[in-house]
Amino acid sequence: MLVTGCGLSEQHNGGYAEVVRVPADWVVPIPDSLDPFKVMAIGTAGFTAALAIARMQDNHQDPRLGPVLVTGATGGVGSFAISLLNGLGYEVVALTGKSDATPYLLSLGAGRVLDRHSLGLKSQPMERAQWGGAIDNVGGDILSWITRTVNPWGNIASIGQAAGVDLKTTVMPFILRGVSLLGVSSANCPREWRMRLWQQLASDMYPRHLDSIVTDTVSMEQLPGIFEKVLSGKIKGRVVVDIKSR
Ligand SMILES: NC(=O)c1ccc[n+]([C@@H]2O[C@H](COP(=O)([O-])OP(=O)(O)OC[C@H]3O[C@@H](n4cnc5c(N)ncnc54)[C@H](OP(=O)(O)O)[C@@H]3O)[C@@H](O)[C@H]2O)c1
Repeated sequence: MLVTGCGLSEQHNGGYAEVVRVPADWVVPIPDSLDPFKVMAIGTAGFTAALAIARMQDNHQDPRLGPVLVTGATGGVGSFAISLLNGLGYEVVALTGKSDATPYLLSLGAGRVLDRHSLGLKSQPMERAQWGGAIDNVGGDILSWITRTVNPWGNIASIGQAAGVDLKTTVMPFILRGVSLLGVSSANCPREWRMRLWQQLASDMYPRHLDSIVTDTVSMEQLPGIFEKVLSGKIKGRVVVDIKSR
């Protein structure tokens, strides 16, 4: 059995417990082709990336609309988003702040890597459209810029706020280009979608680069050092916590 989201370790204690009692409708059976390690390696990051892609495809995202931009690319959600989009036949452009991350991002399936420090953000209501869609993990000025640069009928999945919670844009991309801004909330995801997405992650959406994204397993004692890296934006991929190792 697996649980992700549902407020576990947010409003409810127990994310690192060996045994936990939770409402039955939080619990998803581990699909046959996965195991406890793999589902926790995919975890909330992989599930959230899958949810974002499902929302975009439900709203007619298609590889023919153009390349999909993934921001916060080396983070957990970003890494899974690149791998999953690549597996589904999308051209992916990764946006990162890490100058040494290009080989890692190309190995996950990005076709191109952009440096977020050299974007030269402008402020017109609309700019040259260049993305078929976007998976945004950072919010703030970068999300604002994405709204101005997505091709007609493209979808933007808004997932995170690593760069800020503000969104400054106009209605122009929505009413002149038919762009859609889709919210992604993995914690509140309806159970029916949760069940379906885990089945897809175990089959046609399986993240083929899981071993490259999750390279470390750490003990509880090692967690403070990992948290430092997460908070300073230095984390790459995802880390699994072995709650039994002492
Ligand atoms: N909506 C949901 O359901 C949901 C679910 C999971 C996570 N989240 C949120 O989504 C975001 C990504 O999650 P995650 O697990 O992938 O986090 P993560 O592993 O910490 O990765 C975040 C990435 O964002 C980039 N970044 C960090 N600071 C930045 C800044 N100041 N400006 C621009 N980019 C910055 C970095 O990537 P680069 O160095 O490659 O640019 C970093 O690796 C977080 O904000 C998280 O809270 C939301």
